Amino acid sequence: MTNSIEKDRVVIFDTTLRDGEQSPGATMTHDEKLEIAGLLDDMGVDIIEAGFPIASEGDFRAVSEIAAQAVNSRICGLARANIADIDRCWDAIKHAEKNRIHTFIGTSPLHRAIPNLTKDEMADKIHETVTHARNLCENVQWSPMDATRTEWDYLCRVVEIAIKAGASTINIPDTVGYTAPVESADLIKRLIETVPGADDVIFATHCHNDLGMATANSLAAVAGGARQIECTINGLGERAGNTALEEVVMALKVRNDIMPWHTNIDTRKIMHISRRVATVSGFNVQFNKAIVGKNAFAHESGIHQDGMLKNPENFEIMRPEDVGLSGTSLPLGKHSGRAALRDKLNHLGYEVGDNQLKDVFIRFKELADRKKEVFDDDIIALMHSGENAE
Ligand code: KIV
Ligand code: ZN
Repeated sequence: MTNSIEKDRVVIFDTTLRDGEQSPGATMTHDEKLEIAGLLDDMGVDIIEAGFPIASEGDFRAVSEIAAQAVNSRICGLARANIADIDRCWDAIKHAEKNRIHTFIGTSPLHRAIPNLTKDEMADKIHETVTHARNLCENVQWSPMDATRTEWDYLCRVVEIAIKAGASTINIPDTVGYTAPVESADLIKRLIETVPGADDVIFATHCHNDLGMATANSLAAVAGGARQIECTINGLGERAGNTALEEVVMALKVRNDIMPWHTNIDTRKIMHISRRVATVSGFNVQFNKAIVGKNAFAHESGIHQDGMLKNPENFEIMRPEDVGLSGTSLPLGKHSGRAALRDKLNHLGYEVGDNQLKDVFIRFKELADRKKEVFDDDIIALMHSGENAE
């Protein structure tokens, strides 16, 4: 690879501010975008896709200012396959110390029908637009949108054209989340084996989550040879969203034994940015969402709480501190047992003997049957009233 990164490293390309913001209703203000870009830069994201400069005056301004403020990350703007889009994109990103033009066109039969281009006409357009982008910017990414539903021979042909025209990253989008993990790995592997010049570029994977397979597909693509994952915080994105950054990054960290690739992400910054993106986009994170959901490190049942108190590894495969949490949570509810109640009482400053614990536990269970969650104040009230404290 001339465009080389270390063989065992995966580049993280975050598109929260572009594909993520395309979620209906997820629009962010100018200042919010700048704040999120700063957090992405700070957590070690390699490339930030900051927006779609030709889409609006506001997008142009946001991408330009993100380009000017970036410290470590490369700043990328999106452009359709036409000269005006590419020029506008370049104007927005040209002040960044490290920049990238990302240009794309839909190559599947369905998507070719939208601009009504023949295969040959589209091939010429790809050559012309990638060449133009490359003349402006030394770092160009090209995407055949809906690649996973594009005919194999045509996909190879257009990827080769884009490489010859100067693209240094070839992104293979699963635009409609249609692919399965085995296909995802196989597609990248075969492209690298087949297309002339493929060894000189980085292949990227860009997955959508329509069938809930975006994370699995992205990791499979890496196993097939991709070295860039495109993703968003909290999996924000069109329809069912994009690959979630926190999921692929933590999967690579926790299962490095079978997926021996690393990223530059400081995982301890994950929880903070997840909460900020949820707040500014207005998209709450589901409670049971992997890594960043409220319950991802919470244990309510007695057996699990007892196991956690004895050894956290009994029920947790990663340390909460590694994603930026202060610790595990053992919420008290009707499934909780004596060990968790005693632990909570100790944390609240009460030393109880076995008889007192027995008594409080009975009243705690009565209360828990009536309440979804029993809070610290409820426990304190139980201790003092000697009767239920709802
Ligand atoms: O999903 C998609 O195909 C895209 C392209 C613009 C890369 O977001
Ligand atoms: Zn997308």
